[in-house]
Amino acid sequence: MNARLSLPAPAKLNRMLHIVGRRADGYHELQTLFQFLDHGDTLAFAPREDGIIRLHPAMKGIDHDANLIVRAARLLQHESGTTQGADIHLDKRLPLGGGLGGGSSDAATTLLALDRLWSLSAGLPRLAELGLSLGADVPVFIYGHSAWAEGIGERLTPVTLATPWFVVIHPGEEISTPAVFGHPELTRNTPPISMARALRGEAEQGRLWRNDCEAAVKRLSLKVAHALDWLSAFGPAMLTGTGSCVFCPLMSEQQADRILRRVDSHWHAFKARGCNISPLHDALDIHDEM
Ligand code: C5P
Repeated sequence: MNARLSLPAPAKLNRMLHIVGRRADGYHELQTLFQFLDHGDTLAFAPREDGIIRLHPAMKGIDHDANLIVRAARLLQHESGTTQGADIHLDKRLPLGGGLGGGSSDAATTLLALDRLWSLSAGLPRLAELGLSLGADVPVFIYGHSAWAEGIGERLTPVTLATPWFVVIHPGEEISTPAVFGHPELTRNTPPISMARALRGEAEQGRLWRNDCEAAVKRLSLKVAHALDWLSAFGPAMLTGTGSCVFCPLMSEQQADRILRRVDSHWHAFKARGCNISPLHDALDIHDEM
């Protein structure tokens, strides 16, 4: 294979998530702070001249053509009119249904990688627009900067957050995003706050840095409720996105290691560093285009 491009697809955390309303089409309006982790999937791309898009290996339980990676590649092919294709190899480390944005991040990495491999130069705004049609969380991965997000997550303002270490626990259960957003106990009208206040929120004893999905997700999953309780003993543990992963910010890698040594063996847990620039953008050397 020639010109193989290997790139990260990092995880994200929602450092806070408020639901401030609901649109006529049923989508929920949010306020959230996105931060990336230096941990995620890896994708490798190689061009094909026959126009075929092929993902390897096939993902268990997910139809090849329905995978967000394949859909992202075909969308870019269609929009650009290119006759080129690609072989895409996925090393999957992020759990499905975990709230870490794995599927969205894979899609964003695919759009940026193929834009480069096929020499399209579509620009970040156009790629973010295409990404939004695949999922609400794709644009933040396209722009690749920690961000304050509003709307359904697509109105982004870059911000700089502290970059602590995190322990992230996957409690062994997938949570369906539509099940959380459709839950009768979901609080749907938290008063909106300003970005400036949100950024001060961590100092307000974590009061503003809560996730409004937490109560509904705890109802849906005892495993998530248990993981949250357990991790809360070490610091301000929270849910990311609509779960199922829970995380806790920590001052040092040593603290993260101490927690990991005590984690229940039934859970998949890892440590990672928070970052303000996505590892994908570092790898592609894309900066300041938001
Ligand atoms: O955008 P994504 O595909 O992740 O959303 C999955 C589902 O979650 C949507 O079809 C919608 O029912 C719900 N959702 C929502 N409000 C959002 C994001 C998702 O109601 N902001």
